[in-house]
Amino acid sequence: MIFRQVPVGSFQNFSYIIGDDSTKTAALVDPAWEVGKLLRLCSDMGLTVSFIINTHSHSDHVGGNEEVSQRTKAKIVAHVSSPVDKDLPVRDGDTINVGNVTVKVIHTPGHCPDHICLLTDGKLLTGDTLFVGECGRTDLLGGNSSEMYDSLNKLLKLDDSIEVYPGHDYGPKQSSTIGYERQNNYTLKKRTREQFIQFMQEP
Ligand SMILES: [Fe+2]
Repeated sequence: MIFRQVPVGSFQNFSYIIGDDSTKTAALVDPAWEVGKLLRLCSDMGLTVSFIINTHSHSDHVGGNEEVSQRTKAKIVAHVSSPVDKDLPVRDGDTINVGNVTVKVIHTPGHCPDHICLLTDGKLLTGDTLFVGECGRTDLLGGNSSEMYDSLNKLLKLDDSIEVYPGHDYGPKQSSTIGYERQNNYTLKKRTREQFIQFMQEP
C-alpha cells in the first residue's frame, strides 16, 4: 500500500494519497488545494487517480473536486448526506476498494452531518472530527456537540495502535495514534454527554 500525507493550502490542510502498489490505482482524500501538486505526486508514483474521497463537505476539503475529476475522470465519493456532487454515496460501514486496498467508512457526524472517517491498513483519516490534541469545532452550520460526543466515543473504541491522520495540521505533530489521543487529548477526557456539550460551549 502507498500512503502519503500532503500539507496543502493556506489553512494548514492535509490531503492524502491512498494507493495500491499492484494495480497502481489511487484515491485522493480531500483534494481542495494545490491540485497540480497532488496530481504530480500521484503521477510521479505511477498512480492513476480513480477516486476522490471527501471526509466532509466544507470547502477547504472539497474545493478541488471538480478540477481533479475533470483531469482524471475519478469518481467522487462522499457520505450519502453530503451536499457535494458525488458519484458514489457511502454510509457507515461501507468499504471502498482502491485497487486491492480496502478503505472502510465510519460515519462521524458532529463537526457537520456528512462527516466520515476512513480506516485503511491501520490508519485512520479523521478529517475535522479529531485532530492531534484537539477535536473539530461544532459551532458551524450543521455542527452538533451531542453527535460529536458519540462520534469521538466511536473512534475511541478502536485499538490504541491505530494511527491518526487528521485533516489539518493543528497539533504538536502531524499524526499520532488512538492511544496517544486517549492519553493526551484534553477533548477526550472522560465526560458525560451533558458535560461534553457544556465543554464545547466554553471558549
Ligand atoms: Fe471542516
